[in-house]
Amino acid sequence: MQVLSVAVVVVLGVALVAGLDIRAPLNLTNAGDLSYCAELELNGQVFKVLVDTGSADLWVAGTVPNSIDTGLQGEVTYAVGNVKGPIKTADLRLGTTYSVPNQTFMLIEPDAEHPEGSGILGLGPSVGSYLTDSLPSPAGSPMLYRLFLQNRTAPNYFTILLGRDRDPTDHFPGSITISEILPEYSKILEEPRLEIIRLPEHREDDQHLQILLDADGLIGPDNQPIRTTSSVPSSTDKTRLTVVLDSGFSLPQISKAVAEAIYGRFHGAEYVSVSGIGSTYILPCDSEVNVTFKFGGKSFPIHPLDMTMDPGALGLGSVRNSKGDLACVGTFQPFTYDRASDPTYDMVLGMAFLRNVYTLFDYGDFLPQSSNSDAKDTPYIQLLSLTEPSEAHSDFVTARLGGVDVPPPGLLNDKSGAGGGSKTHVAAIAASIAVIGVLFIVGGIFVIKARRKKIWIR
Ligand SMILES: *[C@@H]1O[C@H](CO)[C@@H](O)[C@H](O)[C@H]1NC(C)=O
Ligand SMILES: *[C@@H]1O[C@H](CO)[C@@H](O)[C@H](O)[C@H]1NC(C)=O
Ligand SMILES: *[C@@H]1O[C@H](CO)[C@@H](O)[C@H](O)[C@H]1NC(C)=O
Ligand SMILES: *[C@@H]1O[C@H](CO)[C@@H](O)[C@H](O)[C@H]1NC(C)=O
Repeated sequence: MQVLSVAVVVVLGVALVAGLDIRAPLNLTNAGDLSYCAELELNGQVFKVLVDTGSADLWVAGTVPNSIDTGLQGEVTYAVGNVKGPIKTADLRLGTTYSVPNQTFMLIEPDAEHPEGSGILGLGPSVGSYLTDSLPSPAGSPMLYRLFLQNRTAPNYFTILLGRDRDPTDHFPGSITISEILPEYSKILEEPRLEIIRLPEHREDDQHLQILLDADGLIGPDNQPIRTTSSVPSSTDKTRLTVVLDSGFSLPQISKAVAEAIYGRFHGAEYVSVSGIGSTYILPCDSEVNVTFKFGGKSFPIHPLDMTMDPGALGLGSVRNSKGDLACVGTFQPFTYDRASDPTYDMVLGMAFLRNVYTLFDYGDFLPQSSNSDAKDTPYIQLLSLTEPSEAHSDFVTARLGGVDVPPPGLLNDKSGAGGGSKTHVAAIAASIAVIGVLFIVGGIFVIKARRKKIWIR
């Protein structure tokens, strides 16, 4: 308790010093690169909520003193498990800067997977919110919308920056700004505006913050574009993949074919089932995987420390390959859940991608009531690349190669090979002896958070 109140005083002090011009950004905490949380208060009760650009509603586990019960019940369904509880309202405070009176949220009973004091803060488009469906706007609107409506002349955008745990050279956990940008990354406003792809009305429930990858817009570890075709039926240009930017996924979700093209040609790569994570490639930790995405004609190199994850270094236990050697986990993972038979996207780019960009989400006409001159605009995303390949390479040498920059062994040629052919695959799956520690199991819901989650009002 003592420690807590001291911390609060320090935070308030910083906010006062920060000055009046730019409101202090909301700082996030980073748990092992697997979840980024914000501290949020409901009627003064503190919760640590995952910031999730892939959903639109707020729920917390525990108790909120003096909250008002709306008499409605809600339910959120994930790929694994679900949460349900009464829909309530309370005064919300986010960081030192943002507050919303009488914010609607769902309260759930804490359990092992949803510990007391945890929750999810949805920052996605409100067409995906089920609370808004039943409670008249603005009362039932998501927090972000309530904040946008507080100042109708301020821009309807928010930005998100995610730090990298154990990055040898850059140390910041992450932050969010609403209607403002981080001054040190103001160049983001000059980046191309990437139109958010709208779903037809009957699919609106599944609307996400999704954009089109450039044609040949995924450059593999051999420096060649990976051949890809969109599997989104409504997409008119199949050479461009539809990708969702979703900060609620620790591990980006991609097709098996693309995962194989990225990881399969590294020496020692195996496709295995890792407990707590599901099926993915594992490879020797000294494999430097260089991949670049392209959006709007710009290149976004991915830090090799984000392409594979060393569970040991993050204190998460260890993963061993079929020979018993320690291995790293490929973070871009074949889909672990079933998309609809007519999917609305090809990839989900989660935290491992988002650490490489500063991202601005402008809600444009997702926010019909605003009088902001931008409001009638098409919603868009801007991305500013944060990863400089030579610096990233030297980080990788420090973190994974013990500081010794040796020439890479090269890739296996056999395209069908995936590290030795399908026989190895089967053997590896059977031999999977991976053990992932506590954080994966507690955080499992975040790692494999499903797309098709809903809140039903009863
Ligand atoms: C947020 O983090 C930044 C950079 O890490 C730090 O300078 C700032 O003081 C923090 N702000 C608060 C309110 O804690
Ligand atoms: C708070 O919101 C609830 C439901 O949205 C509404 O019934 C109630 O009147 C509101 N209370 C205040 C003080 O605005
Ligand atoms: C609303 O936003 C505008 C533009 O960012 C700003 O100049 C103004 O001070 C804000 N008004 C209030 C009441 O915060
Ligand atoms: C990855 O990219 C860096 C920076 O361009 C380069 O120095 C390094 O050799 C590349 N590694 C591999 C394995 O291709």
